[in-house]
Amino acid sequence: MTSIPSLLIIAIDGGAASGKSSTSKILAERFNLLHVDTGSFYRHITHELLRRGVLPTNLAALTLALTELNFTTQLQGRSAQLMIGGQPADHEIRGQNVNEHVSHYAAIPAVRQKLLGYQRGQVAVAQQHGFRGLVMEGRDIGSVIFPAADYRFFLHADPIERAKRRAREGQLDSIAERDRLDSSRKASPLVSPTGAIAIDSTFLTLEQVVEKMAAMIEKKLS
Ligand code: CDP
Ligand code: CDP
Repeated sequence: MTSIPSLLIIAIDGGAASGKSSTSKILAERFNLLHVDTGSFYRHITHELLRRGVLPTNLAALTLALTELNFTTQLQGRSAQLMIGGQPADHEIRGQNVNEHVSHYAAIPAVRQKLLGYQRGQVAVAQQHGFRGLVMEGRDIGSVIFPAADYRFFLHADPIERAKRRAREGQLDSIAERDRLDSSRKASPLVSPTGAIAIDSTFLTLEQVVEKMAAMIEKKLS
C-alpha cells in the first residue's frame, strides 16, 4: 500500500535500548538508505508540548496545540530530522524529563495520527534525495506505518541487558516503565507483528545483529 516498488523499505521495531538506532544507522550506510528514527519524532513533539505547558491529560488543549505544529524535514547526514515550526530538536529530547513523559504523549491517538502521514511521507523524502530506500525504526513501523515493508525486523533483548546498555551510555532512563506503557496502550501498541523477523540480541554484539539483518537483505537484493 504505502510501499513504492522501486524503493527498499526496512522496518525495525523493539523495546527501549533493544538496538534499533545503532543497527538502523549502520544498515542505512551500507545500503544507501534514509534513516528515520521515529522515536526522535515522538521525543521532539513531547519536548515541544512540555515547553508549551500542554499536559497529556488536557486533551482539548493538546488537540489545539497539535494543529499549531508545522512539520517539515531536514536531512542531517542520512537521517531525517523532524523540524517543528522550522526548528530542529535539541539535546534535551534525550534527557530525563522527556524520557519520563514521552510514552504518555505517544499513547494519545491524536498525537500518533498527527505523525502518521508525516512518517509515510518519508518515502518521498528518500526518493527526492536519491536514496535507495529507507530504514525506519520505532514501535509500530512493521505493524501500522509500513505493514507491507520489504523487511520487518523486531529486536528483542533481555530487559536487564537493555538497562545496562542505557546505563553504559550514562543515561537515566526508566526503560521498563516505558516498555510497559508502550506495550499496554490501545493505540498502536509495541508488538512484534505476525510475519516479522524476530532477533534476540541479548547475547549478540551490535555487529552480529547487523550481519544477520544484512545477510537477509543482500540475499533478496541479489
Ligand atoms: O531509544 P528508545 O528505544 O529508548 O526510545 P525511542 O525510540 O526514542 O522512543 C521514545 C518513545 O517514543 C517510546 O518509548 C514510545 O513511547 C514512543 N514511540 C512510539 O510510540 N512509536 C514509535 N514508532 C516510536 C516511538
Ligand atoms: O534505538 P534503541 O533504543 O533500540 O537502542 P540503541 O540506542 O541502538 O542501543 C542502545 C545501546 O546498546 C547502544 O549504546 C548500543 O551500542 C548498545 N547495543 C549493544 O550493546 N548491543 C547490541 N546488540 C545492540 C546495541
